[in-house]
Amino acid sequence: MHSLGILGVGELTEKVVIGLRRSGYTGAILLSPRNAERARVLSSEHGCQVLESNQAVVDAAETLLLGVRPAALAELAAQVQLRPGQGLLSLVAGVSLEQLAKAFPGAQCVRVMLSYAAQYNQSTVVVCPADALTEQALGSLGELVVVADEAAFELATVAACMNGWFYYLLHDLQHWLSDKGLPADQARALVLGNLQDCLASARRQPGSSLQALGDAIATPGTFTADGLAVLMHQPVSATWGAACEVVLDGLLTRSRLGD
Ligand SMILES: NC(=O)c1ccc[n+]([C@@H]2O[C@H](COP(=O)([O-])OP(=O)(O)OC[C@H]3O[C@@H](n4cnc5c(N)ncnc54)[C@H](OP(=O)(O)O)[C@@H]3O)[C@@H](O)[C@H]2O)c1
Repeated sequence: MHSLGILGVGELTEKVVIGLRRSGYTGAILLSPRNAERARVLSSEHGCQVLESNQAVVDAAETLLLGVRPAALAELAAQVQLRPGQGLLSLVAGVSLEQLAKAFPGAQCVRVMLSYAAQYNQSTVVVCPADALTEQALGSLGELVVVADEAAFELATVAACMNGWFYYLLHDLQHWLSDKGLPADQARALVLGNLQDCLASARRQPGSSLQALGDAIATPGTFTADGLAVLMHQPVSATWGAACEVVLDGLLTRSRLGD
């Protein structure tokens, strides 16, 4: 990829730009002009160029990254005309390939989902459909997961929301420790450290189910098992499941609205 054009300079695309530069990408990054202050900072600190219009970005860039919110999509689409076959990597949640093809006729559309960890090259990078150019362009932002179809992509979007929810769970656990008297920084280090221990073990044992890994720790008579018995009697997982269902319903409703 020689040049990347960003249509919609927001929270997420800012992290993508930072991650690309951190990974050593030296090609041109061309920014749409709205959100001028953020674009100015990216331009001065991360070697980007702010162009005068969205169409100027489309004309100058080889590949485009779409980072507006769903509600802004129609307005943006009316402002630009892409070249036939021009790559358009869409971060817009709940907007299907069919809807993108209608909004940007002739473009080669790919859906991508990632998180703010892209700025540290540690994001999960979900791609649909498989596309070598997208995988090459954004693979440096973290771990690629190429899903089979859009139904799987909507589920991956629910998983991306889990990323945000985990912070609240971790916050509660940190505060339980600090309310009991542990300094806040130590409480934070312990919660994050024990989560990291869990992730490290789980990643190195892909053949074991997550439940089996838990069962191996929470053996009868352990303190872990005593606490787990309480967790299993309270509907925590049901609450998380309900949150997932709400998000999935919203995504599927949005992608059907454009049919
Ligand atoms: N944030 C996340 O964690 C996350 C995760 C996964 C996917 N996504 C998806 O990523 C997209 C962006 O999310 P975000 O949180 O980064 O949103 P955001 O911070 O609101 O950024 C969107 C940007 O698009 C700009 N914009 C709106 N209309 C435009 C137009 N016609 N031309 C050029 N720029 C325009 C906005 O400018 P103004 O400020 O001037 O309106 C804003 O700077 C969404 O579609 C969301 O579904 C986000």
